[in-house]
Amino acid sequence: MLVDVKTMLEKARLGKYAVGAFNTVNLETTRAIIEAAKELAAPVIVQVTEKTLDYAGGRAIFNLIKNIAEFYAADIPVGIHLDHGKSFEAVERAVDIGFTSVMYDGSRKEYVDNIMTTKKIVDIAHARGIVVQAELGNVPYLGEMQMENIQWEKYMTDPDQALQFVKETGADTLAVAIGNAHGFFQERSEPDYERLEMIAKRVAIPLVLHGASDWNNGRVQEVIARGISCFNIDTALRLAFIGGLREALHAEEETDLRKVLTKAKEYTKGAIKEKIISFGSAGKA
Ligand code: G3H
Ligand code: 13P
Ligand code: ZN
Repeated sequence: MLVDVKTMLEKARLGKYAVGAFNTVNLETTRAIIEAAKELAAPVIVQVTEKTLDYAGGRAIFNLIKNIAEFYAADIPVGIHLDHGKSFEAVERAVDIGFTSVMYDGSRKEYVDNIMTTKKIVDIAHARGIVVQAELGNVPYLGEMQMENIQWEKYMTDPDQALQFVKETGADTLAVAIGNAHGFFQERSEPDYERLEMIAKRVAIPLVLHGASDWNNGRVQEVIARGISCFNIDTALRLAFIGGLREALHAEEETDLRKVLTKAKEYTKGAIKEKIISFGSAGKA
């Protein structure tokens, strides 16, 4: 059942667990996410990026997710989210399609531009009952830079700025940068837990952690205890899917695509279940 993502994440924040927001690009990954959530009775967010809107077709992928959620998981709270909308127009597209929540990622813009566009998006989204995630600070991407050249201080979310940003924009949830990075990255040796605590003290809204695909359970628990209510996971699913595909293709001369893709789906589902259990959202539906 599609639900209000703000309520879903607010419950997680108060209950000291986190919801998984998993990226999908196709039918099989979507089935894997919804089935994992159903089997573990967990609230879940299914999300797509702009690239996926172009790849699959915006309405096509939205309706696919919605139909699977309604058909297979009528009793499970599901959000359908636009991940990393990079422009007003991209977010507007998702709002028009009917996404239950959208992210505007103005993290690479000047601070004032980020505020202005986030606020504009909050206005159009809230008018339709849609929840908005913003990003302050910047979560770097694997492949865009050499690890040793990262000046982490430049990327980190500033706690005082976060307070002002949330007040001025009215964003419902906030993606934070505390030493996390997208992709399998060799990250800062330890995330900046103190900074996260300070952010959570200043802004009493759900905080989202991007790029935690390879975080171990210990680290996950440390940040949940300090205010993270949602984890974005993509790379771990891509790797599981491709691992399943490789195995299916090498095992035999299979010509039934459904069998090959089912193996990929099952591997992906396994990876998702591990994350849901680690996030503490199993049984919270
Ligand atoms: O941060 C989100 C994704 O890992 C980037 O995925 O290739 O669909 O833009 P994308
Ligand atoms: P990973 O690809 O590192 O799992 O990050 C996913 C993410 O942050 C999507 O927004
Ligand atoms: Zn991300």
